[in-house]
Amino acid sequence: MERSRTMGERNGCVIWFTGLPASGKTTLANALATRLELLSAPYECLDGDAVRNALGNFGFSEEARNLHVRSVGFTAQALERHGVIAVVSLVSPFKASRDAVRSMCRSFFEVYLSTPLSVCEERDPKGLYKRARSGELADMTGVSSRYEPPVNPELVLNTAVSGVEDCIARIEALLRERGMVTGEACV
Ligand SMILES: Nc1ncnc2c1ncn2[C@@H]1O[C@H](COP(=O)(O)OP(=O)(O)OP(=O)(O)O)[C@@H](O)[C@H]1O
Ligand SMILES: [Mg+2]
Repeated sequence: MERSRTMGERNGCVIWFTGLPASGKTTLANALATRLELLSAPYECLDGDAVRNALGNFGFSEEARNLHVRSVGFTAQALERHGVIAVVSLVSPFKASRDAVRSMCRSFFEVYLSTPLSVCEERDPKGLYKRARSGELADMTGVSSRYEPPVNPELVLNTAVSGVEDCIARIEALLRERGMVTGEACV
């Protein structure tokens, strides 16, 4: 039985940040949330770390990652159908599972953070690259687990050359172009 329905005329969508660890996904998701707040646009953030903390961490094998991506994708498409902008920040390294989520959603905006591995490794805010290089951590994307870049993402942002404000302005421009955001910010 179909229990869900679409709410009114509000436009929901899914903004899906994908990229290497430390490429800037969480930082940009949080900055985008701040901007959406000012624009009075309904949004919800689904961050990989937060979801793992809340629902359980089933590890970083290919199978576990794909299940994690599908679970978050399922939640995101449900939010989207009810007029919410779902802001997802997840390494989501495998193309097939991102494409599976895309096919579940109505308006799926894949934002690929193309920040080079060398820059991500230099940043290493959680010390994960260091632990992976020393052999202490297995299945680390970019070191011992592959990352498959998107083929046709809606947006590509290299955070090594574009600052946070610039990245957010480009995402907002995309949202306005697609009619997901209208109006001016309340200050
Ligand atoms: N233009 C930029 N956009 C985003 N982050 C930036 C930028 N310039 C520098 N940074 C820095 O890069 C780091 C990115 O860390 P962040 O936790 O956002 O990465 P992540 O992609 O979410 O990593 P993970 O996959 O491990 O969760 C932060 O320390 C942030 O301050
Ligand atoms: Mg993060």
